[in-house]
Amino acid sequence: MTNSERINIGLIGSGNMASAMVQGWVRADPSAAQTIHLTDHGSGRAAALAEIAGGAHVHASNRELVGAVDVVLLCVKPIDIEDVLREISDIVEPTHVVASVAAGVQTATMENLLDDGVPVLRFMPNVPVKVNAGTLVFARGRATNDKVEPTLELFRALGTTVELQERLFDAATALSGSGPAFFGLVVEAFEDAAIVSGLSAAVGRELAVTTMSGTAQMLTVEDLSCSDLRRMVTSPGGTAAAGLAQMERAGVRGAIIDTVVAARDRARELG
Ligand SMILES: NC(=O)c1ccc[n+]([C@@H]2O[C@H](COP(=O)([O-])OP(=O)(O)OC[C@H]3O[C@@H](n4cnc5c(N)ncnc54)[C@H](OP(=O)(O)O)[C@@H]3O)[C@@H](O)[C@H]2O)c1
Repeated sequence: MTNSERINIGLIGSGNMASAMVQGWVRADPSAAQTIHLTDHGSGRAAALAEIAGGAHVHASNRELVGAVDVVLLCVKPIDIEDVLREISDIVEPTHVVASVAAGVQTATMENLLDDGVPVLRFMPNVPVKVNAGTLVFARGRATNDKVEPTLELFRALGTTVELQERLFDAATALSGSGPAFFGLVVEAFEDAAIVSGLSAAVGRELAVTTMSGTAQMLTVEDLSCSDLRRMVTSPGGTAAAGLAQMERAGVRGAIIDTVVAARDRARELG
């Protein structure tokens, strides 16, 4: 196994996150559909997703899927992970890789339900994987084989991957996993502000979204600190200074910290 193109990946569960990942893989490489295998729990979502993906394989059972793939990717709700692993564990080999995107399910929990020597990877992706702009934190379990690196390469096609200790996954779940919801609320507030300030909804949306992505690009391409970026925009007595003073008086910084801490604590409760 030398590259990710030859890896057959089987997604158990074809819901929201599976759909976002499959569409990201096919967007990066339309021929990837041939290497994607899917199941669901009877809803028909696997067949619908296979059609969107243009030729992915649908299997009648999870066990049939395991027999056809190199990587088994668990995309079911956290509460269903143990049942699915018990169903397939006797046919999962150390030559497979078992990966999961389930929030709060640790590699050790999965390893305990699998034979020794089966490599396990745990991911926490976010929905921008659909447009190859995801943020995916991951942790490795104890075992490895020659398919682990090609598997990680496959996930790199979906966005930025960051290896992280598992004890920090709840914080990452809050920040990057739930983050698109938080940024969505903030951009929506800018859209509202645009209308209150006299701009049309359409222009407000365009200015808000491009300003968000442009700011993100400045921070990454120029490797700027946030305070340096702020200083570039903030002249003494100017408009940004007036706006920033209002943001601080309104407690925006504290509200965002409280938001992420609340989400992290909720991830802990659910885990
Ligand atoms: N949504 C997000 O933004 C997000 C972000 C990060 C991580 N995650 C993780 O992604 C996982 C899936 O979340 P989701 O939002 O995609 O959930 P979802 O939309 O409810 O999808 C769950 C899928 O699992 C299938 N399923 C359940 N039991 C099964 C079984 N025994 N065999 C085969 N398929 C089975 C369901 O089948 P049916 O279609 O037949 O019901 C459904 O297709 C969760 O563990 C979650 O923690 C989600």
